[in-house]
Amino acid sequence: MLLRGHRESSGAERMIIKYLRRLRARRRQYRNVSKSAKLEWPVSPGGAIIKDRASIGRYTYLIRGTRVARGTTIGRFCTIATGVDIGPPEHPMDWMSVHSFQYNTGHFRDVPGYDKPRRIKHKSRPSTAIGHDVWIGTKVVVRRGVKVGDGAILGAGSFVNKDVPPHAIVGGIPALVIRYRFDAATIARFQRVKWWTLTPQEMDGITFNDVDAALDQIERIKAPAD
Ligand SMILES: CC(C)(COP(=O)(O)OP(=O)(O)OC[C@H]1O[C@@H](n2cnc3c(N)ncnc32)[C@H](O)[C@@H]1OP(=O)(O)O)[C@@H](O)C(=O)NCCC(=O)NCCS
Repeated sequence: MLLRGHRESSGAERMIIKYLRRLRARRRQYRNVSKSAKLEWPVSPGGAIIKDRASIGRYTYLIRGTRVARGTTIGRFCTIATGVDIGPPEHPMDWMSVHSFQYNTGHFRDVPGYDKPRRIKHKSRPSTAIGHDVWIGTKVVVRRGVKVGDGAILGAGSFVNKDVPPHAIVGGIPALVIRYRFDAATIARFQRVKWWTLTPQEMDGITFNDVDAALDQIERIKAPAD
């Protein structure tokens, strides 16, 4: 129905509107991604804050409200929920103060004299590494420097302060292993097969819900042709 004073938009106008909407959605997705972050296309940042020199593998998706710290590496096909904090920086605990004024001039840059004290270099913990096919639940904190193995699940609300083995499900504060997704032999097979090196197109026809058969099929796809 046409409202008074409005005319129906033409096909070309509708196409332009659709294009502009898509452009706006894309800008919203990427607006918090640092220019020095490396995203292996395609990655869906979903509006998450991705800091300097972080790197994220293809088909990983994140959601608004999540923060990935400087230098973090994240593998392929990861699912990262909202409210997640990966590798937040840590302050010195054995200095005069825990405040950052001792080592940087951020936060109060505009206050006269704030840049006066001679800053002392603060060495932070090494960066955080998340493997491939990791599912990080809502509101998880992964402590800076932690390594999370391929296929792991970090349960909602956990504080993950120790390395997580491949395909482990962890949860709680501090996070402990709840169980493993598969038996040890199957996990070793996943580590050999590395299905995440394939594209979804290459995995057409795989019986994803039958793990032994799926691993057989991936092995066949990856076997060098005779
Ligand atoms: C971890 C999770 C995947 C469940 O795994 P599960 O193996 O099915 O776990 P179960 O429900 O059988 O629970 C097993 C034990 O782990 C505990 N547990 C489960 N999730 C937990 C969590 N997030 N933190 C702490 N403990 C948890 C249970 O209380 C239970 O303990 P008990 O044996 O002492 O009773 C699920 O609880 C979870 O956290 N999902 C994330 C959901 C989410 O954030 N989605 C975001 C969308 S991307």
